Amino acid sequence: MPTLQILIIIFLFCFFFFIPDHIGTASASACAESACSSSYISSIPIRFPFQLKTLEPSRCGYEGFDVSCNKSNQSQTLLTLPSSGDFIVQGIYYLSQRLVIADPANCLPRRFLEHDFSLIGSPFSFVDGLENYTFLNCSYQVETSHGSISCLSNELYKVIGVPSKSINFSAPSLCSVISTALVPLSGSFESDGWDLLNYYFELAWDVPDCRFCEQSGNVCGFKDGKSSELKCSSIYSSKKGLSRTANYAFTTFTGIIAIIFVVALVLQLRDSRRAHQPMTELSTVTNRRPLVIRIGLDDATIESYPKTQLGESWELPKPNDNTCPICLGTYKPAETLRTISECNHYFHANCVDEWLKMSATCPLCRNPSKGNKISHLTTGA
Ligand SMILES: *[C@@H]1O[C@H](CO)[C@@H](O)[C@H](O)[C@H]1NC(C)=O
Ligand SMILES: *[C@@H]1O[C@H](CO)[C@@H](O)[C@H](O)[C@H]1NC(C)=O
Ligand SMILES: *[C@@H]1O[C@H](CO)[C@@H](O)[C@H](O)[C@H]1NC(C)=O
Ligand SMILES: *[C@@H]1O[C@H](CO)[C@@H](O)[C@H](O)[C@H]1NC(C)=O
Ligand SMILES: *[C@@H]1O[C@H](CO)[C@@H](O)[C@H](O)[C@H]1NC(C)=O
Repeated sequence: MPTLQILIIIFLFCFFFFIPDHIGTASASACAESACSSSYISSIPIRFPFQLKTLEPSRCGYEGFDVSCNKSNQSQTLLTLPSSGDFIVQGIYYLSQRLVIADPANCLPRRFLEHDFSLIGSPFSFVDGLENYTFLNCSYQVETSHGSISCLSNELYKVIGVPSKSINFSAPSLCSVISTALVPLSGSFESDGWDLLNYYFELAWDVPDCRFCEQSGNVCGFKDGKSSELKCSSIYSSKKGLSRTANYAFTTFTGIIAIIFVVALVLQLRDSRRAHQPMTELSTVTNRRPLVIRIGLDDATIESYPKTQLGESWELPKPNDNTCPICLGTYKPAETLRTISECNHYFHANCVDEWLKMSATCPLCRNPSKGNKISHLTTGA
């Protein structure tokens, strides 16, 4: 009992002082790595300078690095750019400080063409330089050296994007200019560049610079709750090293332990209350399942009753009575019968012997038998 109480105290101590740090709700210094997807393959680790909106305290991430999980597809990580809206995060590369995003509508060229993409107000920048492109809407008949943008083209018209400086306006007479825009496709532009842009569009960040910390495999974060100074702490001294999965496992484990302790506590209380219950309660318990004392005969007395072996012609002591009243079996030749001498009733010897061990009376007429009685203490229902 004292052991259990000590365990309960230790458990409560752990629950109130230790767990909240792991869940990441208690203090700004406890910023666990998180993710939208729990699958190891599709999971994108979210840690400083990024943070999952609403899940972690605000001081776990740098301003502008908030990400969220798609409400209708919880495994999808979303980045909301202040002037361009939601993008799907495909990967975060902490060591190179790069971020790969994709357009939810799967047509990033359209966003450039319609001037619907801007990094203004965000901490991110384009990895490649920007180049001025002219977008043309051409008849399907026009042969161009540039590949068409498949998500904007159909069987009748194809949309192409050409670097503005190399365009020859007299040549494509079957084309009309849609717009010009700066596109992050400098240098390495190839015919499939536009489609490449659709699923691999890279952004970079310079501030905060945590590369020194990531390189040594440590955990980057704010030095304290107020300043924007960075701190690089060992993964072992910091709880940030715990993955979300580990966090869940830990929380679940603690929850199970909690339930076990609560059940144990309830049982313990119930037992100790029962132990201190007044005697009346005990006697009612006894009354419901009364003790029954049955008195049988000892072996010597039973053996003293006369036995009869039935012959081939099996002449019965009472010719009209050929059934054993105990086992309801008919008497057969060569079977042994026993008679209770006091009342002259007879039975199969093996049936009545068992009976007499439990009860000293004849099973038929309830006449008490004489002899040495043995007490059997049994509880009856
Ligand atoms: C969120 O997921 C749903 C279902 O997969 C999808 O239709 C929707 O476009 C996603 N939202 C964004 C912003 O990507
Ligand atoms: C949910 O998001 C993941 C990751 O972006 C994607 O692979 C998957 O197809 C999406 N599921 C649905 C139903 O849109
Ligand atoms: C792109 O080039 C076109 C024509 O050369 C020019 O009119 C336009 O201002 C340029 N756009 C930008 C954003 O530099
Ligand atoms: C291209 O031009 C045709 C005919 O004017 C038009 O129907 C189509 O919507 C245009 N496509 C784009 C992407 O502007
Ligand atoms: C533009 O087109 C005209 C006529 O087809 C051609 O003579 C000229 O060389 C072209 N210029 C460029 C820069 O491609």
